[in-house]
Amino acid sequence: MEKMITYQIKGLVKEYPGFTLKIDDLTLYRGEIFCLLGPSGAGKTTLLRILNFLEEPTAGEVYYGGVKYTKENFNPPLEIMREITTVFQRPALLKESVWNNIIYPLKIRGQKVDREEVMAIVEELSIAQLLHRPCTTLSGGEAQRVALARALVFKPRVILLDEPTANLDPNNIRIIEDMMTKYMEKKPTVVWITHNHFQAKRVGDRICLLEEGRVVEINDKENFFTNPSQKRTREFLAGEMFY
Ligand SMILES: Nc1ncnc2c1ncn2[C@@H]1O[C@H](COP(=O)(O)OP(=O)(O)O)[C@@H](O)[C@H]1O
Ligand SMILES: [Mg+2]
Repeated sequence: MEKMITYQIKGLVKEYPGFTLKIDDLTLYRGEIFCLLGPSGAGKTTLLRILNFLEEPTAGEVYYGGVKYTKENFNPPLEIMREITTVFQRPALLKESVWNNIIYPLKIRGQKVDREEVMAIVEELSIAQLLHRPCTTLSGGEAQRVALARALVFKPRVILLDEPTANLDPNNIRIIEDMMTKYMEKKPTVVWITHNHFQAKRVGDRICLLEEGRVVEINDKENFFTNPSQKRTREFLAGEMFY
């Protein structure tokens, strides 16, 4: 079966004072979970912010949906931006009820609220009992589940996850992983930053190790964990690089 391309990155450079992210060639496909591993400061969030068109590159090209974006035109039309969603480590929720937060993306897109569809996500994330609660009263795990519901409710094609389960307990982590696994039926493109090798092993299709702004290795999950092509990957997985 032919894989459908979502993103293609070519000769990407993002420069900050004292840091350069450089990705020569990267293709992301429809229907895959692409996990980004790497030490703090490796450039994972920077890459995610570029994929989200929040941060423009210093040089290079990002193709999305076959359209070329460079620093000259790094502002896709709104309808394209609205295909993409991001969930951060710390959820930023509106100071309103859980329900209002969840349906907010539909409201701003002028889409009608299909109660049954929303409730399917709500049930999967075990937040039905919270719908009337003000978001200010939620625990960290509850807030993150609400943030994920809000991110998925409008059926995004691209889901960018920046350590969404960092600091959550195993039960919350399992619920979030299960939700994402279920959502993969819709064939989105998912980029999932995680500090947890085991999580990458559970959810990832391909794994990328980023270090000091460079790709060390991109490999399918099996090879990445059992037969990596790079010595550096082996060291990283063995925990020889501390961070
Ligand atoms: N807006 C910014 N201005 C200057 N430096 C930044 C900015 N954002 C990130 N950096 C730097 O870029 C490097 C990579 O950061 P980041 O992408 O957040 O890494 P990671 O997510 O892998 O921990 C770090 O050295 C960070 O300080
Ligand atoms: Mg980060």
